[in-house]
Parts: sequence; C-alpha cells; structure tokens
Amino acid sequence: ENSFMKCMSNRVSDYSKSTEKTVFIKSSSLLYPKMLASLEQNPRWLNSSSKPLLIVAPSHESEIQAAILCSKEIGVHIRVRSGGHDYEGLSYKSYLCKTPFIMIDLINIRSIDINLSDETAWVQAGATLGELYYKISKASKVHGFPAGVCPSVGVGGHFSGGGFGAMVRKHGIAADQIVDAYLIDVNGKILDKKSMGEDVFWAIRGGSATSFGVILAWKVRLVRVPHIVTVFNVQRTLEQGVTKLIHRWQYIADKLHEDLFIRIVAQNTGANSKTIQGQFNSLFLGQKDNLISIMNESFPELGLQAKDCIEMSWIQSVLYLAGYNKDDPIELLLNRTTSYKSPFKAKSDFVQEPIPETGLEGVWKMLLNEDTLAMLIMDPFGGKMNEISETEIPFPHRKGNLYNIQYFVKWDENKIEESNKHIKWIRMVYQYMTPYVSKSPRASYYNYRDLDLGSNKNGNTSYSEASVWGINYFKRNFRRLAHIKTKFDPQNFFRNEQSIPILNFLP
Ligand code: FDA
Repeated sequence: ENSFMKCMSNRVSDYSKSTEKTVFIKSSSLLYPKMLASLEQNPRWLNSSSKPLLIVAPSHESEIQAAILCSKEIGVHIRVRSGGHDYEGLSYKSYLCKTPFIMIDLINIRSIDINLSDETAWVQAGATLGELYYKISKASKVHGFPAGVCPSVGVGGHFSGGGFGAMVRKHGIAADQIVDAYLIDVNGKILDKKSMGEDVFWAIRGGSATSFGVILAWKVRLVRVPHIVTVFNVQRTLEQGVTKLIHRWQYIADKLHEDLFIRIVAQNTGANSKTIQGQFNSLFLGQKDNLISIMNESFPELGLQAKDCIEMSWIQSVLYLAGYNKDDPIELLLNRTTSYKSPFKAKSDFVQEPIPETGLEGVWKMLLNEDTLAMLIMDPFGGKMNEISETEIPFPHRKGNLYNIQYFVKWDENKIEESNKHIKWIRMVYQYMTPYVSKSPRASYYNYRDLDLGSNKNGNTSYSEASVWGINYFKRNFRRLAHIKTKFDPQNFFRNEQSIPILNFLP
C-alpha cells in the first residue's frame, strides 16, 4: 500500500492532498467497506476474503494512467469497476488469490456530452445507462440509445461485452453503436480509435475491453425514436395457457416488425409457488392503433386489448421497462444501485429452434420445485440483428438465433449453504436445457458472465484451455481476440478469470 501511494504521489502532482476522498485502503480506511460494497450488485461476495488492497477512485484521467503504471511497477494487478454489475463480481474481487490487486473505481469519471448536430455522445466509462438515457432525454425528445433495460448498469462493462435491451431488434446492441473510444493501455497511454488501430478498436466493442486496457470513454451514435411509443405488460399463468402462448411466441417473436419487441419473463411466484407466470413485456416504437393491428395479425393468441397498451414518451418507456411507473420522476434513472439487490446466480443460452411444449413443461416443473424466486428471461432477436455479420464486432450471436434465454435465481440469505443450494438448482436447469439450445458451441452471452463455463488459472492460461469458455462467448471471434491481445498486451497485464488469453502461452 505504501509503495503504491508513494508511486502515485510521484506521478500525480498534489496527489496526497486529494487522497482522502479518492483512495480507500483495506487495512486503514474507515470508508473502505462502504466504498467496496456500494456498487456490488451481487452481494454474494460481501464476505469474501479476496478483496482489493486498496480502492482508487480517480477524478482525473491522469490518476488512472498513474494507477496502471504504479500497479505494474510494484507488481500488483488491477480490477476496474464501472457500474459493478458483473455477475461473478470480477470488477471488485479476484479468485486469482496469489496476485494482490487494486481496484480502480470509475464512480467519479462519468460525464456525458450529447452532440445533437452529429447525433453522437461521448460517455465516460463510469456513467450508467440510466445517466445516459436521462441526459439524452434532456437534450432531445426524438433520440434514444439501444442498450440494456436496467438503468444502474455501467457503460464500462456493458458496452465492453455487447449490451442489449428493448431496441435490439430495431438497432442491434450497444456495442454496434460505438464509433470511437478512449482506451488507456498498459503503458498508461490514452489511445483513440485511430491510434489504437483497427484491430483493438474491433476487440473492445463487445470482446471484453477489460482484457486490453481501461476504457476512459466511449463515443456512441444515438438513434432516432418516435415522439410516442407504446408499451404493454400482459401476464398469463399456467391456468391461462401460458405454455401454449410461449410456445407460439417462439415462432413469431424474431420475425415481427422490427419496431416491436416482446420479451418474456417466465417465473415462479416465490417460495411455495403453485403456478408459473409469464409476463409478455413489450416496447413498440409507434402508436397504439398500429401496435394492435400488428398484434391482431401476428399474435392474436395473446388477446392484446387497447386497455393493455399505454402510450408514452421513449424516456417514460425506459422507466416503465425498468419496473417504475411511467409518471415517476425520470430522476429515478440516476439511481446507481438496483432496488432488488440480493445474492443471485445466472446462466444463459441462445435458442435456435422453438422448444416443444413438453420441453417448456419440464422447466416449469423445475421452477415450481425451487423455493425462491427463479425465472427465465427470453429476449427475442431477429430484425437488425440478422443484418449484422457474426464477425462485424466480437459479439457473434446474430442471424440464426431466435432469442437469448437467461436463467436467473435470487435468494435472501447470504449464506454459503443457501447459495450452494440455489446454484445447484440452476446448474440442473442448465443441464436439462441442453437438447433445446444452441450446440457446437453451446453459446452464452459474455455479459451474463458464468464462471461455471471455465476460468483462467492465476491469469495465465493457454488458448486451448481458455477456449472451453471463450468459444461459447465469442465463437470464431475468440481466436482473433487472442491474436490482438497477444500483440497489444503481451505480458497479459490486464487479466482476470475470463480475460482473453495470450496465444502460445506455455504454462
Ligand atoms: P462492472 O463494473 O462490474 O464491470 C463488468 C466487467 O467490465 C468487469 O470485468 C470490469 O472489470 C470490466 N470493466 C468495467 N469498466 C471498465 C472499463 N472502464 N474499462 C475496462 N473494463 C471495464 N445486460 C444486457 O445486455 N442487458 C440488460 O438488460 C442487462 N440487465 C442487467 C440487470 C442487472 C440487475 C444486472 C446485474 C446485469 C444486467 N446486465 C444486462 C448485464 C450487464 O450488461 C453486465 O453485467 C455488464 O458487464 C455490467 O457492466 P458494469 O459496468 O455495471 O459492471
């Protein structure tokens, strides 16, 4: 700790004056536990022993540059935290226990500049999706951004791994909209699109930017949204024929007009649940009458009625899809933590052929046997996603995928036995789903990080060992990512349990 602080003081003028508010030392800062826990969206690891030696919360890019150089100099590695939503906590904990690490928390690096003249925005990496959506809505009523539905997610991690939400069918994913970026490399240099080169710029857009450096800011293209959009949230239970409806949905959800997105959340209703509830949760980029006529034609089985549909502005739909009411203050989007913070485990798959009703019935049984809230979240693709090639950016899940499916279980008691029980359950569900989902590889979504797929050993793992998980996330793009990594960070300084490996590494 002392040598790190000494190094920082040498590199950043007046550093010691500002440290009180920006450095939190594990062994001595009273604020350290609060700072560490503040953004842990999955509190499973609150009591973990592998914590950062210290947390640096820079307020200027020079401090990030210095933190990288000082970490290298004294031989510790780093973790970077933007919104803290990593499913396995990799932004604030390390399973690579042999190597001590410091955490760079980007909480103070989060300005957003909207430029309507060229319809872009520069977003610093510590900003959240909610902050971005909010700022866009203050600048324009006809612009939006296609990224995740949860406002507290950080742009640092989210854009680095893909990022999809309710406009995925119309505009693709968040990483598709990145037109420039500032990346700080292992030598502390700030690079933009031109100076980092085509390969690295390709890699950081969805290919685990954290394997290549620290993203300081992204420049993104905004998208046009109509003045009025329409949402609905229709719920059906087993008794109301939800299985048939979900079965049918699989045949149409990816083929509907690209202005229409209908996701399904199928869940038990908590402990002792007697039924499955399917929520058909939708955003339509247009007005109610149009929506109803599309639904009558394409999905009459749902029985959508005018009273189910609510017209609103795009920013109100962001609030609504995040679980608020449309008339709640949009400032709620600025909350940096989720209101339902509790331990969870998730896994993901891509579905390429409709699952038969019997297959769905089997998974409902498993949901009903689980004694805590558990769900399947199904996000339809198609539309714009079919037009973008698998190799355009590292995120490869495009044409041929009907929908992404996420299995999610959360529980209240943060105890190891309790965690083990629910993790065992979700692994059984994943096993059960094998015949129904993509194969060779069985693809997974990088942003729904799952260390069950495999993990690097103390940071240094061969390409073939890392392929066990890497091919699932990135398919054939994984090899190109490893090539780029080998050239750009040959010492593998930027590493974690699922960072891109160096080629030809000999253990
Ligand atoms: P966090 O700060 O934990 O970072 C995640 C990873 O990125 C870590 O490895 C971290 O080191 C690295 N990183 C962060 N900032 C970096 C930087 N500046 N430079 C380099 N590396 C950096 N996904 C989705 O596609 N659609 C959705 O709707 C949702 N919804 C959602 C809801 C909730 C409640 C959760 C917990 C998660 C989601 N996600 C999601 C998944 C989300 O996209 C994923 O967890 C992101 O990686 C989170 O990014 P954060 O910056 O918040 O996490």
